[in-house]
Amino acid sequence: MLKVSPSILAADLGHLYDEIKKTEDAGVDFFHLDIMDGHFVPNLTFGPGMVKFVNANTDIPLDVHLMISNPGDYLEVYTQAGADVLTIHYETVTDPVGMLKSIHGLGIQAGISISPNTPFEAARYCIPESDWLLVMSVHPGFAGQKFIPASTKKVSAARQFIDSQQLKCAIAVDGGIDMETAPRVVKAGADIVITGSSFYKSENYADFISNLRQVVDSGADNA
Ligand code: DX5
Ligand code: ZN
Repeated sequence: MLKVSPSILAADLGHLYDEIKKTEDAGVDFFHLDIMDGHFVPNLTFGPGMVKFVNANTDIPLDVHLMISNPGDYLEVYTQAGADVLTIHYETVTDPVGMLKSIHGLGIQAGISISPNTPFEAARYCIPESDWLLVMSVHPGFAGQKFIPASTKKVSAARQFIDSQQLKCAIAVDGGIDMETAPRVVKAGADIVITGSSFYKSENYADFISNLRQVVDSGADNA
């Protein structure tokens, strides 16, 4: 079944505790936390304190997306803060496999993310060491951007490779996911969708999740 991970960046951060509870009640699978450093991406968000706060207020696993330079300096900090899946960007490291191994050494799951300009083939050798492949379907840096259509091709290529090698890596897609784009990426082979603005702007989070699962299921029927 499709897994959904709402990106807390798009929530009403002035009412964070209530947002966490409402998100939990909607039946989500993860919380997605976008860490930006103003260096790898042209925006700044929050740090380990935020991860700690969310972790203290939910039992739902946390997927922490590090959009930062030198992620290796922060693996322990974010693990201690409560990350269950820690995702680094392929573009930020010289030895991604070594860093994925370091994340595993901390006892949590490891993800590798690729930006829109990075072809899947470049990062393919990292997949055997990855629990997640996070395909960015917008340029990392901001919530609320428009989905890049070419991302579905990348998802299909990843799906084909993972299945042909019988690997366990899950495929997550992040950026511009809504009722229209979610069925397209799931049809291409995604297991997990990250959803920021479309989820947090919806009137009723639980209805949003059940509608999303429904449109994805009927999209798959029509495949
Ligand atoms: C973009 C972030 C995404 C973003 C998703 O840099 O990594 O996780 O917050 O938000 P939407 O769904 O609004 O694109
Ligand atoms: Zn993200």
